[in-house]
Amino acid sequence: KKDIMTLAIETSCDETSCAVLKNGREVFSNVISSQIEIHRKFGGVVPEVASRKHIESMNSIIQQALDEANITFKDIDIVGVTRGPGLVGALLVGISSAKAIAYALDVPLVGVNHIEGHICANYITHKDLEPPFTCLVVSGGHTYLVQANSYTDYELVGRTRDDAAGEAFDKVARSLGLPYPGGPLIDKLSLEGNSQAINFPRPCLEEDSYDFSFSGLKTAVLNYLNHAKQMGEEIAIEDVAASFQAAATEVLVEKTIRLAIERKSKTIVVAGGVAANKGLRNMFLERGNKEGIDIKYPSTILCTDNAAMIGSAAYFNYMGGYISNFDLNVEPNLEL
Ligand code: KG4
Ligand code: ZN
Repeated sequence: KKDIMTLAIETSCDETSCAVLKNGREVFSNVISSQIEIHRKFGGVVPEVASRKHIESMNSIIQQALDEANITFKDIDIVGVTRGPGLVGALLVGISSAKAIAYALDVPLVGVNHIEGHICANYITHKDLEPPFTCLVVSGGHTYLVQANSYTDYELVGRTRDDAAGEAFDKVARSLGLPYPGGPLIDKLSLEGNSQAINFPRPCLEEDSYDFSFSGLKTAVLNYLNHAKQMGEEIAIEDVAASFQAAATEVLVEKTIRLAIERKSKTIVVAGGVAANKGLRNMFLERGNKEGIDIKYPSTILCTDNAAMIGSAAYFNYMGGYISNFDLNVEPNLEL
């Protein structure tokens, strides 16, 4: 059986990334160019600015990925690319580049679901990981509870009804006067705060559904801050951060554990930018321990957007016979 070399491209949001992988698990290069400094002054990602920046960076990022992997275009067997969900203009840059390369090299093109990519990051970090498992995907744009039945069959069981988990972290951070993206800063502040100082709501926790909701929790934090300001009370932002984080993570962890028990999963896989959160990790490890469920995370660099995870997903899709045509189009609102 021949080794498969994948060139993968990810441009769904504000990271321009290109990676080279062997057989979906072994990363030869994973070049990530973040635009975060450019978007920070706007307090969030500006789609048009992101597209233009992707165009500027794309060619040199691809060349860098080949160079770091010590290969040339000739060595590539398949080209993987994010087809959605994401920003339409940003996705178009990646898809156009991937099509051009696949066409010129006469190799298969594999369009990949970005969320599936986040899950597949775990196949890179954990070489022995195999489906089935229960998975929580928590990023700035998505909150999905998933049952992975095979390498290509990801069953969507629950989702957020409003804000994504990372979005809630970022919005609460902003209300505390922290810069974008605030998730990591909330995480850091929480270490110094008391998570039981304020009893914020745990939305949907008791509900008989696997869906999430974070906008009520976000509003509760805003109301708390406004009330304290009006009363002239001093606000301990570490305590607000820690109490918010505890509320958000408790719902995420409990629902994931509940699904794992229902489906008799021995493994829970966490993915996406918020998977880097220490409070979430600790709560998962503690609960997993109690229930005898193994908890797995991607390495930190593979939690946030990157092309290596897209390359892994592309490889497993290719092996499953899922190959795209050259009329592949972007799907900004693609579901799992
Ligand atoms: O997966 P990702 O890079 O992009 C999307 O596909 O959305 O996730 C970015 C999100 C941001 O909302 C960021 O604030 C959040 O992940 N994030 C964190 C942490 N690190 C990143 N949230 C909480 N704690 C962290 N340590
Ligand atoms: Zn992402």
